[in-house]
Amino acid sequence: MKPAWRDELLTEYAGLADKLERLLPCLEVPMHLPWIDAIQALKRERGAVVMAHSYQSPEIFHGVADVTGDSLALAQAAADCDAGVVVLCGVHFMAETAKILAPHVKVLIPDALAGCSLADSITAADVRMLRARHPGAPVVTYVNTSADVKAESDACCTSANAVQVVEAMGADKVIFLPDRYLGAHVASQTDVQLVLWDGRCEVHETFTAAQARHARERFDARLVAHPECPPEVLAEADFVGSTSAMGAWLEREQPERVALITECSMADNLRLRFPATEFIKPCNLCPHMKRITLPNIHACLRDLVPEVTVPEDVAIRARRALERMLAVGRGERI
Ligand code: 13P
Ligand code: SF4
Repeated sequence: MKPAWRDELLTEYAGLADKLERLLPCLEVPMHLPWIDAIQALKRERGAVVMAHSYQSPEIFHGVADVTGDSLALAQAAADCDAGVVVLCGVHFMAETAKILAPHVKVLIPDALAGCSLADSITAADVRMLRARHPGAPVVTYVNTSADVKAESDACCTSANAVQVVEAMGADKVIFLPDRYLGAHVASQTDVQLVLWDGRCEVHETFTAAQARHARERFDARLVAHPECPPEVLAEADFVGSTSAMGAWLEREQPERVALITECSMADNLRLRFPATEFIKPCNLCPHMKRITLPNIHACLRDLVPEVTVPEDVAIRARRALERMLAVGRGERI
């Protein structure tokens, strides 16, 4: 049942309402406040931490999240987490990653069907087949994969550290899975030979070079693209980077106008940090990320389901691959 409206919500959440009104249609904000208030109360009651990926809608990202960031930041936060309950507002592989890195924590995902086309593109049997075909080549797997696939891998990476992890393997040839476009981008930045798979992100693969050029020519915007976009789109971009690298680039460049060629919520969530920059939105929505809503976060905290679990034998092997990625980030040899 929807939590009731109270007039005091507007004063209790004045700062948040002001932020959200700059990002959402203003009539939507009073609809969100009762849910936000009820979720905050349940969080306290359950001792829960809410983690949200940068592709979550502003009412989630700004309204209820305790930790926000890209998939690397969420993995690091999960590894350091001492809460009893984590609600992962993102897609299923992110919740699995949290569970693998924090096995003592109850990890919940508000909609268990929030998947990912990249994670669906490859199975553990595919990884074993590639190993047999390329004996001795280590396997580096993007975190956008199932726990079963991570368990077959030597190390994981995210789009923020892919080149670093590939080079840390110390091999001339690396099997890099499963995103073909991210793989091609990494290959352009290293001497290591990469064996690629044909996985694609259904959100980023649909961007075209013509759209990117239009954003630049029509709006005089600088272009920033996620490495999951096709190579001809990346060729148009002023900067290519993961969601966290996009924020760092904006910090450095402070452009007057920018087009973020990625999921739509990314620009919404960065806009408050960069009030002097105008964000053009040649963006696509990720249907999986958008399955997460305030009502299902509320239901998940109330009922403590759906819980994400990973069989222990799989978790042990997948954790080794994830921990090697985190070790590279700390500058350790792996
Ligand atoms: P990041 O690794 O940049 O957070 O991206 C995750 C993702 O799902 C991109 O589509
Ligand atoms: Fe997967 Fe693409 Fe959605 Fe990211 S944006 S979760 S890679 S489908």
